[in-house]
Amino acid sequence: MMDKAVKIGFLGCGNVGSGVWRLLEGFGRDISHRTGLSFEVKHVLVRDMTKPREIDFPQGVLTDRVEDVIDDPEITIVLEFLGGEEPAHQWMLHALQRGKTVVTANKVAFALYWHELQKAAKETGAGLYYEAAVCGAIPIIHSLDESLQANRISRIYGIVNGTTNYILTRMSKDGSAYEDVLAEAQRLGLAEPDPASDVEGLDAAYKLSILASLAFHGRVPFDNVFVEGITRVQSEDIRCGQELGYTLKLLAIAKRDGLRVETRVHPTFIKNEHPLANISGAFNAVFLYGHACGEMMFMGRGAGDMPTASAIVSDLVRAASTNHHLYPTFENAECPAIALQKNTDWHCPFYVRMLAYDKPGVLSKIAQTFADHGVSIAAMQQKGDKLNGRVTLVFITHSASEENMQLAICKIGEEIATVESIIRVEQD
Ligand code: HSE
Repeated sequence: MMDKAVKIGFLGCGNVGSGVWRLLEGFGRDISHRTGLSFEVKHVLVRDMTKPREIDFPQGVLTDRVEDVIDDPEITIVLEFLGGEEPAHQWMLHALQRGKTVVTANKVAFALYWHELQKAAKETGAGLYYEAAVCGAIPIIHSLDESLQANRISRIYGIVNGTTNYILTRMSKDGSAYEDVLAEAQRLGLAEPDPASDVEGLDAAYKLSILASLAFHGRVPFDNVFVEGITRVQSEDIRCGQELGYTLKLLAIAKRDGLRVETRVHPTFIKNEHPLANISGAFNAVFLYGHACGEMMFMGRGAGDMPTASAIVSDLVRAASTNHHLYPTFENAECPAIALQKNTDWHCPFYVRMLAYDKPGVLSKIAQTFADHGVSIAAMQQKGDKLNGRVTLVFITHSASEENMQLAICKIGEEIATVESIIRVEQD
């Protein structure tokens, strides 16, 4: 095995960057023994050079000048841990244009600028690696890119956000309210002080845009992903769903049927027997279907310094082991060969909970409104006691059009019932 010394640079050194440093420090010898590669971190870009740090960086490594990383001719691989859109996008682009390979954990900048970054990488022959951008330690990118090459993948169901899976798991197990679980998760450091990107589903949507693009070999832009977060989920619905044999998850769903592609992130009821129903706490999982491999599920830690460092260092080793980097191809790179669904144009069964007046004719009016919009009822339950003249009705519909369902709900007048919640169901 040929020994090769590789000089690398870090853009940022927060939790993930520190995890990568520690992993290289503690495990670099093993990697070197296995691969013949040794890595030297030449520069680490930080915002504040005076900030106290747990890592004792050697003299001259820390810098607050980005040029020391992206313009240094000795640095051949740049690891990006800044997160967010800018300046990460511009700095990655700059590095690629100078022929430096980029390894990134940044789903936002990558999902939004994939085409531009890949074009720059191809022009200079640099590599672009992003395993850590989706589901942390789970090797789903490499699996889609290489190990599942021989498959036409038609379905992906992912639990790709640990924060929301933790919150929904807690709500399901002890019936707590969303706000209480979120506050506790923030106290424990399991949710960000500003949890918007996680709880509103955006984090999952960036990841789904990347996963679906790779799996379907067609670029699915972030804007094409329908997004609804978990902020309106009520424990009462989780409980009603459990009685019907369902578990609630924030699912990232991508389906390809011929040339039609749909991608959506929203709270979803899945059957208790589905393998994803058992993925609890902050774990991530991706369940997919390929025409040759059949069903397959990946499960693991989607966040955290060391799990994310695991993906980054593996990408680093892969990048440093080759001079011939590979790039995914897309059917719609130049023209839209795949038809992306208008982002509310799909069919699925629905769970609907209403508070309805308990008097003659109410049920038939609701059923007629559903029927007028092509929505067929599969099951209905009246629950609990009458309160202020109203009772709880829970409907499960057969598969219906999302748009028709929303129209039907608007047509149910308040003198009949108020719709308290609608949750989409996946029966696969
Ligand atoms: N905030 C994400 C999560 C991890 O909760 O899964 C980083 O993408």
